[in-house]
This record gives sequence, structure tokens and C-alpha cells, in this order.
Amino acid sequence: MKAVVNFETMKSQQVIVTGGAGYIGSHTVVELIGAGFEPIIVDNFSNSHPRVLDGLERILNRKIQLFDVDCCDESALNGVFESCLKRGNIAGVIHFAAFKAVGESTAEPLKYFSNNIGSTAALLATMHRHGVGSFVFSSSCTIYGQPEQIPVDETAPFLPAESPYGYTKQACERLISDAHSAHAELNVTLLRYFNPIGAHPSGDIGELPLGHPNNLIPFLTQATAGLRDPLTVFGNDYPTPDGTCVRDYIHVIDLARAHVAALNWLKDQNHACEALNLGAGNGSSVLQVIEAFESANGISVPYTIGPRRPGDVTAIYADAKKAKDLLGWECKHSLQEALKDSWNWQKKLEHKS
Ligand code: NAD
Ligand code: WQD
Repeated sequence: MKAVVNFETMKSQQVIVTGGAGYIGSHTVVELIGAGFEPIIVDNFSNSHPRVLDGLERILNRKIQLFDVDCCDESALNGVFESCLKRGNIAGVIHFAAFKAVGESTAEPLKYFSNNIGSTAALLATMHRHGVGSFVFSSSCTIYGQPEQIPVDETAPFLPAESPYGYTKQACERLISDAHSAHAELNVTLLRYFNPIGAHPSGDIGELPLGHPNNLIPFLTQATAGLRDPLTVFGNDYPTPDGTCVRDYIHVIDLARAHVAALNWLKDQNHACEALNLGAGNGSSVLQVIEAFESANGISVPYTIGPRRPGDVTAIYADAKKAKDLLGWECKHSLQEALKDSWNWQKKLEHKS
């Protein structure tokens, strides 16, 4: 275990943020600091880069403590918890660390099972050993497949997973809910994210897809920047108003804020376990996203229409009422704001490379 930054002035409300150097984790670190928590990042940089810490430092004007640890390594996690507990209380754990590439998970399922499920089991065991009760888990709308009704609420059943990645999220939700039944101290939120996009408005942190991006927005911004071939819209013959697939895009800062709200809610609970959808609550088609990007940024997106991508659901968006009722949280940022921030991030990246 290697503590990369030694940060001595520790406050009491520490929050362990696994995967905190990643896309959603780094934005959540910013929001945690804003809310008075002390985030402690645990990340092995398997899908991120240590320079994320520089971006965080520019935004926050201070250093964040980081442990370069693999979350599947229970004994290293134990060391992290012991080290934090020497300095104060651990208010909770947010577990982002996982592999997330749907296509890769089909080619390398074992890597996904062992990392995503193994890290969750190791973390729950370590929390139990140290009596830490508040747990916020990164789940995904992928667990719903193509739901019978949209907007989809949390009572919709899990459909057979389309990919090993999706299966790991279903399995982790099951693992966590079984641990919750067995461990009286556990209070849990299973946060089911829809499609996170955008970046911090400073352009100092954002999504850093390594290699060929699979998700729509990183591909769109790189194609618009001339770094890739034109974007291929995967199919325009779906039964949707313009024929392209519909998704619920949520600004990553809104998503990050929801984690703070979840932690605050958990501290007042007595043995709760709740699944919550986190989405904007409305759907946008691929063509609507392209149009919104063009009007937000005054630039045209090069694209062609191609065949459907296997495994894509036609349309999904969230009923996010439960998160509003329970956490008092809702989205504040529009699709256009998110797309402006995505483009700003892409432009800053180009300058750095
Ligand atoms: P990301 O890849 O940017 O961040 C994940 C971070 O976890 C990376 O920094 C990586 O280095 C780290 N990590 C992975 N395995 C680790 C391990 N064993 N030990 C320590 N660190 C490890 O991904 P993200 O987009 O920020 O996603 C965060 C979480 O949200 C993931 O659990 C993902 O499955 C989930 N999620 C993401 C999306 C999305 O579209 N981005 C949607 C739904 C759910
Ligand atoms: C969005 C839309 C594509 C790329 C994935 C995971 C899901 C969750 C979120 C983690 C779709 C279309 C895309 C392109 C396109 N992640 N598209 N051309 O598939 O909704 O969800 O990320 O949990 O599990 O499956 O997101 O960004 O890949 O696609 O037309 O080059 O954009 O068909 O309609 P998706 P996405």
C-alpha cells in the first residue's frame, strides 16, 4: 500500500472514495469538499491517470489524500481503513471502482467478474471489520435492459444482462443486499446511473477515455475535434420519433451532487437499503443530442448514419422521483450545459496533448 500524498490536516468526516481518480469519482470529490467532507481516494489507476490529482488540486486549491491500492486486495484495504481511523471517523464509503466497458466485458468476462464483484466483496468485508456502515454503490440503468415501461422506476425487474459488465452490476446489487440483510450496521444506497456526460466547467477534470471511446459523447467530441472519423449514428430505424435511440443524459456534476445527498441521507438511517435512479428524467435521441451540441457550441458535428449496434436498447429514461423524495435531489443542469462543458473539456485536452 502506497500513500501517495501525505495530507496531515485531516478533518473528522472522512469519506473513502474508491475509483475517486475516475470520471464520476473525481467530480464527486469536488462536491464532497464543497459539502465539508474529507474525501480519501482509493484508486489503482487501472483506468485513470495520476494527473487527475493535478486537475483536482487546481479546482480545490489543495491536495487530496490518495491511496494507490487495488480494491480487490482486502489486506491493503484494511491498511487504508486503519490509517484513516487513526485520524478520525469514516463517515462512509462510495464505491466507484470498477471496469465499465461493455464491449471489453464480453471479450474478457473474467476480468470484469473478478474486479467488479471482487472489489465489492472485499470492501464490504473491510467495512464490516471496522464497523463502517454507510455505503454508496455505483450501479447502472443497464440492469433494467429494455424496460416494459418508460420512464422506468426502481420497481422494474432486472432483465437478463446483455453483457458480463451488466451482470456484474446485478450481481453486486444482490451481494450488497445480502450483506445488508446479514450486517445490522449497514446502510446502503444503490445508485442506478443513467448516461453521465459533461465535465467540470473549469475544464480541469472530465472523462478521459483511454483508447477508442465507446460512449457517444467522447466519440462525438473527438470526431468534432477532427481526431476521429465522423461519428456513426447507430441506427435510425428504431421505433422512436426520429428513429434513433433515446437515452437519459445527466450532467456529471448533478450526479456527483447526488452522492453527497445520499451520504447525508444515510447518516440518519437505521438499517436502510434503497435503490435510486439517477437521471434527468427525460429522454433525448442521438440526433437531438447532436443538434443540442451544435447549438450549444456553435459548431457542426460530422456524422453519418450507420447500422444498429448489437445490444442497444431502443429507449430508456428515468423516473427519478424517488431520489427527489428521499434525498431532496434533482438535476439542475441542462443537456446543453453538459454538452458545452464536454466540448470545453475536449478543447482543453487538445491543448495539453
Ligand atoms: P472510470 O473508469 O472513469 O473510473 C473508475 C475508476 O476506478 C478508475 O479511476 C479506475 O482506475 C478505478 N479502478 C477500477 N478498478 C479498481 C480497483 N480494483 N481498485 C482501485 N481502483 C480501481 O469510470 P466512471 O465512469 O467514473 O464510473 C464509475 C462507476 O460508475 C463504475 O462503477 C461504473 O460501472 C459506474 N457507472 C458508470 C457509468 C458511465 O457511463 N460512466 C454509467 C453507470 C454506472
Ligand atoms: C448512447 C447512445 C448509442 C456511440 C452505456 C452502457 C451502460 C452505461 C452507460 C455503465 C446509444 C448511440 C453511441 C456512437 C451512437 N454505462 N451511439 N454512436 O449504450 O446508452 O450505455 O453507457 O453502466 O451500461 O451500456 O451509452 O454512450 O454508448 O450510447 O450512435 O458512436 O448513443 O447507440 O443510443 P449506452 P453510449
